[in-house]
Order: sequence, then structure tokens, then C-alpha cells
Amino acid sequence: MPEKLLQEEKTKIDLLAIAFHNFNQATQSLEESYQTLKDEIAHLNKKLAETNRELTRKVEELSRIHSYLSNILDSMMEGLIAINPQGKISIFNRAAQEITSQPREKVLGSSYQKVFGDKNRAFTHLLKKTLEDRKPLMAERKFYRENEVVPLEIATNPIKRKDREIEGALAVFRDISAIRKLQEEIQHKQRLAMLGQMAASVAHEIRNPLSAIEGFALLLKDTFREDTKKSQWANNIVKGTRNLNNLVSNLLNFARPLKVNFQQIQIKEIIENSLSFAFQRIGEEKLNIQIKKEIPTQPIKIIADPELLEQAFLNLILNAIQSMANEGKLTISVDKQVYLHPSPHEFFREWEGDYILTKSYGEVHIRFSDTGCGISKEEMKKIFHPFYTTKAKGCGLGLTITQRIIQSHGGGIKVESKEGKGTTFTIYLPLDEIT
Ligand SMILES: Nc1ncnc2c1ncn2[C@@H]1O[C@H](COP(=O)(O)OP(=O)(O)OP(=O)(O)O)[C@@H](O)[C@H]1O
Ligand SMILES: [Mg+2]
Repeated sequence: MPEKLLQEEKTKIDLLAIAFHNFNQATQSLEESYQTLKDEIAHLNKKLAETNRELTRKVEELSRIHSYLSNILDSMMEGLIAINPQGKISIFNRAAQEITSQPREKVLGSSYQKVFGDKNRAFTHLLKKTLEDRKPLMAERKFYRENEVVPLEIATNPIKRKDREIEGALAVFRDISAIRKLQEEIQHKQRLAMLGQMAASVAHEIRNPLSAIEGFALLLKDTFREDTKKSQWANNIVKGTRNLNNLVSNLLNFARPLKVNFQQIQIKEIIENSLSFAFQRIGEEKLNIQIKKEIPTQPIKIIADPELLEQAFLNLILNAIQSMANEGKLTISVDKQVYLHPSPHEFFREWEGDYILTKSYGEVHIRFSDTGCGISKEEMKKIFHPFYTTKAKGCGLGLTITQRIIQSHGGGIKVESKEGKGTTFTIYLPLDEIT
């Protein structure tokens, strides 16, 4: 090979070597850059995963706080409504649903004035005023729901942000019908106690002169033996004083604390005894009153005072008979309900002035249904009040005494009535372990 050619080939090889060298260097730096990038991506990925975890934790915590808060709101006995400044409902807890009978799904996001309507303007006005005046309010208002009216105690508050800007208003409210009922019961008891004291002192004052009048009237009657007219007059005086004496005895009975002599009895026997008194009356005055008994053949035993229970039943039977002008039907039915619960119910039984906690395993229901004149809604509120009567010869103590007797046995009375159709009194008495 000529010298020149050889030189050229050598130069080429050298160039190639340089190129290779350069290429190697480039590859190496590329590899390094790639590794750095990879590390950076791994680092970023790690950070992203961490942020994701943190975010998930925060979301979970938020949802936990949210459900904790709504559990608190839903566990409240009081109803709670919150509205925004535009009057749209934003919170409506479980008690609010129950008290207002409105479902949460329908109410949330709707205008509170539309939801509660014109009938409940007195209620919604409180929220309106709180929103406008930014001041809390407290009041009692009637609330109209479906077919009934319930008394509510309401407290409203403006919802303020930290910067004092108003964010809405809230109302917390509760149904106070049970408290009202208790208050009425206390008043009823206080009235009874007062009347009792008064009756006891008056009765003693009246009894003596009454016996003297009766004694003299009997003497007169004897003196006028020959004169039928005058003897009849004297007899009227005797009858009148006896009626008065009867009233005084009733009053005294009513004034004294009940002495209950508990023993095991059979309901059927007590009903039969009360009926036999009633039959005498029907025999005398009302021939067309039918009495129907629906009593189970299997004996039902309870712990009770037979005489007191007889008196209670007789009072109801007499009232039923008196409510039917000349004819009608009185149905007396008895049934027994045994509780399914494994642990028996407990109740207080009055015992020698004390209240003893007693266990009950069920209830006996004794129903007195008549086809008489019925009781109006207005009258219904008063029938258990002492001395409330619509009868010329009544003294208005029958139901008061009956209620006391039943309560002293740990039971209760319920009345249902339709004017012109008839009335049903149901007595509930607890069943004891032994029955
Ligand atoms: N079964 C009934 N049907 C219609 N009204 C009734 C009935 N039971 C009670 N009432 C009404 O309740 C009132 C009060 O009854 P309650 O037995 O306490 O007194 P009374 O019967 O009037 O008098 P008494 O003291 O003689 O019992 C009655 O006057 C009557 O208006
Ligand atoms: Mg009566």
C-alpha cells in the first residue's frame, strides 16, 4: 500500500476512535441524567403518596367529625332547625322530624316559611324575627301538625361568624305536652287534697244536726201516722236527710286516705258482686237495660282490694246505666295480656301510705261499654274532677273515687266516647307473678 493511503486510513481510525470515545461519554452522561430523573420521579411519587395519604386521612377525619356532629344533633331530645340568611333550611335533626312530622329529605334546602305553612306563622315568626333583629328569643307556641296541635317551648338564636356577620338562625324546641299533663295532674291532686281537708271538716259539722233532723222527722212521721199526707211530708224529710247523709259519707270517704287491703282475688267474682248491686237498681228503675258479659272462662286472678274494686266497678256500671235513658246495652268484657318481655315491668303500688315497687307480668283489661248518651270533648276534660256532675242527683265523686282506687292498684283508666252513641271505660290492672 502506498504511504499516502496508509496515512489516510490511520487518520480515519483515529477519528473513529474519537467518535467512539465521544459517544461513550455522551451515553454515560445520558445514563447519569436518566438515573437522576428516575430518582426525582421516585421522590415525587413518594411525596404524592404521602400527600394522598394525608388527604385521605383528612377526608376521613372530616367525615368522622361530620357524622359525630350529626349523631349529636340526632341524639338530642330537642328539635333543631337551622336556616341560612335566605331562609332555606340547612339542618333538621331527628327530633325536629318527629316533633313536626316532616321528613328531612323534603325539608332540607326548602324555605322554612313554606315548609311550616300559614298555620304555624306564630312559630316561624320567631325565626324571622331572630334573623332580622339578630337577637335570641324564647317563647311557647302551639304547633299544628297533621291533625293535632302540640305545645312547644322554643329558643331561637342568630348564627354569627367570627367576624360578627350573620350566617343564619337556629331554633331549638321541645314538645311540652307531657309537662303540661303533669302540671295538670299536680293541680288536680292539689285541688283534691284541699277539697279533702275542707270536706272532712265540713262533714263533721253537718253530721250531728242532720241526725237530729232525721230523728225529729221520724218522730213527726210517727205523730202523723193517721194523716197520710203529713206522714208523707215527714217521710220526705227523712229521705232528704238520708240522701244528705249519704253525700256526707261519700265526702268523708273521699277525704280519707285510701286504706287498701290487698289480697288475691278473681276478677269475675268482683264483677258479679258489683253487678248484683246494679241489678237491684235496674230492677227498680230501668227494665230495658241489657247486660252482656264477655269474661273468659279461665279464672283471672290479681292482687287487689275486693271491696274497693267492687266500688270502682259499681261506679262505672251505675254511670253506664244512668247514661242510658230507658233502654240500652252494657257490655262488660275482660281480657288478659301477658308481656312478652323477659324482664317483667315494674310499677308502684300504694301500700299503707307508701309506694312499693312491684313487678308486673302483664295487664288485665276490664271494659265497660254502654250505648248511652256519650260524653262531649269539653265534658271529657272534667269528668274526673271531684264534684263535676251533669246529674240532678249526682255528687260528682264516682269517677274521682274510681280513679283513685285504680291508681292505688298500680293501674289506669281510659275513656272513649261518641256523643249520642255511647261510652267505653277501660280499666287496666297489673297482673302479678302469682297469676
Ligand atoms: N258512661 C257514661 N256516659 C255518659 N256520661 C258519663 C258516663 N260516666 C260518667 N259520665 C259523666 O261524667 C260525670 C261525672 O261522673 P261521676 O261518676 O264522677 O259523677 P256522677 O255520676 O255525676 O255522680 P256520683 O257521685 O253519684 O257518681 C257524670 O255526671 C256524667 O256527666
Ligand atoms: Mg257516677
